[in-house]
Amino acid sequence: MKGKYYAFNDKDRAITFYRHDMPCAWINYISNGTMHAFVSQAGGGFAWWQSPTIFRLSRYRVNNLPLDTPGFYIYIREKDGTVWSPTFRPCETPLDAWTSRHQPGVTSFVATKGPITATLRLFVAPDYDAVVYDLSLSNGGKKKIDLDVFAYAELQMHEMVREVCYSYYNRHQLKVWYEKEMDGLIYLYHADGLPRRDIAPLVYFGASHKSSSYCGNRDAFVGNYRDERNPVQVQKGRLGNNDLFGGEPCAALHCKVSLPASATVERSFFLGVSQGAIVDFATARNNAGLALAALRTPGAVAQQRKKNSDWWENHLGKFDCRLPDVNAQRQINTWSPVQSVQTGRYSRSISSQATGRRGLGYRDTATDMIAIAYRDPVWAANVLRYLLSLQFDDGKAIHQAWPVDNEPPEVSIRCDDHLWLPFVAYAIVSETGDLSFLEEQVAYYREDPKKEPVKASVLDHLLQGFRFTEANLGAHGLPLTLRGDWNDIIARFTYVKKGESVFCGQQYCVALRYTEDMAQAAGKPQAAAWCRELLNKQIAAIEACAWDGEWWHRAYDDDGKPVGSKSSQWGKIWLNPQSWAVFGGAGPIERLREGMANAGKYLDTEVGLKKLHPSFATYPEVSDPFSGYNLGAGENGAIFCQANPWAIIAEALLGNGKRAWKYYTQMIPHVALQHMGIDRYRAEPYAYTSNIIGPENPQFGWANVNQVTGTAAWMDLASTQFLLGIRPQIAGLRVDPCIPADWKGFSINRVYRGTRVEISVDNKARVEKGVTAITVDGAPVPFEKGVPIIPPSFFAGKGACTVKVTMGKTDISTLIV
Ligand code: GLC
Repeated sequence: MKGKYYAFNDKDRAITFYRHDMPCAWINYISNGTMHAFVSQAGGGFAWWQSPTIFRLSRYRVNNLPLDTPGFYIYIREKDGTVWSPTFRPCETPLDAWTSRHQPGVTSFVATKGPITATLRLFVAPDYDAVVYDLSLSNGGKKKIDLDVFAYAELQMHEMVREVCYSYYNRHQLKVWYEKEMDGLIYLYHADGLPRRDIAPLVYFGASHKSSSYCGNRDAFVGNYRDERNPVQVQKGRLGNNDLFGGEPCAALHCKVSLPASATVERSFFLGVSQGAIVDFATARNNAGLALAALRTPGAVAQQRKKNSDWWENHLGKFDCRLPDVNAQRQINTWSPVQSVQTGRYSRSISSQATGRRGLGYRDTATDMIAIAYRDPVWAANVLRYLLSLQFDDGKAIHQAWPVDNEPPEVSIRCDDHLWLPFVAYAIVSETGDLSFLEEQVAYYREDPKKEPVKASVLDHLLQGFRFTEANLGAHGLPLTLRGDWNDIIARFTYVKKGESVFCGQQYCVALRYTEDMAQAAGKPQAAAWCRELLNKQIAAIEACAWDGEWWHRAYDDDGKPVGSKSSQWGKIWLNPQSWAVFGGAGPIERLREGMANAGKYLDTEVGLKKLHPSFATYPEVSDPFSGYNLGAGENGAIFCQANPWAIIAEALLGNGKRAWKYYTQMIPHVALQHMGIDRYRAEPYAYTSNIIGPENPQFGWANVNQVTGTAAWMDLASTQFLLGIRPQIAGLRVDPCIPADWKGFSINRVYRGTRVEISVDNKARVEKGVTAITVDGAPVPFEKGVPIIPPSFFAGKGACTVKVTMGKTDISTLIV
């Protein structure tokens, strides 16, 4: 297994791996929305149900050696005692051929040893909360082959933190046993003080065909001082039929397979849950039996597999582009929206590097929804309702929540959390055109549940957020930073709560513009006028204080000194206030341009823009370092990926196609990995990471905190709505691309308010920005004030239509979002 690591196959939306030993686990999430798992290119991974904090089903050891273990394992034992795995790990028995591949919602492995080819697909059944090990075995030889096949998962005591601290007690409060009538294993964890007893599930493990032996005892399965690589029971060719009444649990089943010459047989294994096992075991047990019976029905696995891929095709099919740049096209059509679904589900919580403890970040989830809203506005609206229910009636919001776990949310008030709500509302309403959503009543959050609930409309929630911001302005008229803005670390400059955030002021401007538009459309001119008044006031405040001479300040500290200034010793220039000045339209155009030009000059690294420059000195040189981060690492001068799409949006708004596309393409994970080299970059070539170590650190180029990052949603938005320029707005569908001047054109197929729209953009004029004409099914679209927006009436009642867009020089500034 030497040589090339991976290749994309865009037709199948797939990435194929030719070797298992990547620098770290390159994972794929498989899920039906309630049952979740991730699986790596080498078969490592684990499953959880609803919450990775309290309902972990199987184990996975972050930071452990051997790396990326355990996982969803199949062991194939031949008559001569040779044992191998289609995932290659954990046995590592040499194979004649091996590949694995990730596709949206399914990971598959194809392994050949001698005449036998094993194909294993791992996915979650859409209709049953079960991970399916979908195995097929083919015999390419001329003789019948008898095999013993074992499927395995190491089970977990559900509650992650409790297990780490107290497993030596709690292991006496679980059991695994075989149920003959069901021909499967049941695992019940019943520790005292179990969270969410009302839904706490049992776990079942069953095979599609009759099992010959079983094991529920991990230590018996592997044997003394052994591990998953060489389990003693597999070596013996038979499991010990061990039930477990206390100890380290596992689920292992054994099936005998007789494989005629030239034949293929299918065997599946199901690791599932049935809820409510503590409150009503009999019902939960019965439901597990029913689920297993249904999954065992001939054709059921194939049908679930298809339903799973249909869900993804429907989601991904909402937007499809054809571009002259194949890396960008692949990223936009498949891998960004796939990752946006994952961050929509898991926020910053769980990956092969994140432990699953964090729950859902308020602003994180709010901003994740902007990339969901244009494909699945119903999902985004449900999440927004939830977020609004965690906003206090004075307008501020909580910071972090544990939606399933029933723990109280973390309340630490930041200046920005509530100001992301208008972004989500705007994304939903501009996509659907359904203004009645703004009238929907949602109750505010009450710390004391006995307090009478206070309800307000969605729009009033947003306005209430502005009231909170207005009540918390600092000496310069900018939002007080409080416990931080989007950037946690900024709180470092305000211990006595006098510090102010320029970035938050700029974000406030965008929020006000969006809300003004929504209020106007919803027939609330007074509210719209109030937003405009606040907007003008905020812009004036920013303009009066925040320009340093060549770029925008980042913040003010408790003493009113600017953060991010030529006069600063460290962190002289920060990226976010340069990009958000443009996004917020807050400042004269020359300054907006100059700020971005200097961001490029001081912060660009060829794999992304750093968050600030230069990095703050750190221990042990200085006693008051920037929160302990090494030079160029994490929050201190790393390439903080999420800040990059904002720079792309800014450059696109300014009409700098070349720079915007440079910033976009250089950070496409595949491109960045190729640029840095796989051993330096390390992370998945299809999913953004939270940050990449910056050049001031010898480990420059290491991409880390894989998968769970707001970069996913913002890159999705930046590319589809600002680079390709297909941007739903309240007034209709704006088509306002910003592209490299050497592109002849491109095309997009997009669903808009139920109409499938085929858009082709002609750039014979070879401009970077500017639209001179649009037709819809031949009918010319008049532009109001020169802005290229197609009013919804052009699509009304049409199942499909064709939009032709001509780019060319215009003298209209379409800077404002
Ligand atoms: C992390 C946090 C996010 C924060 C960002 C920048 O990604 O999850 O809330 O905005 O860091 O500090």
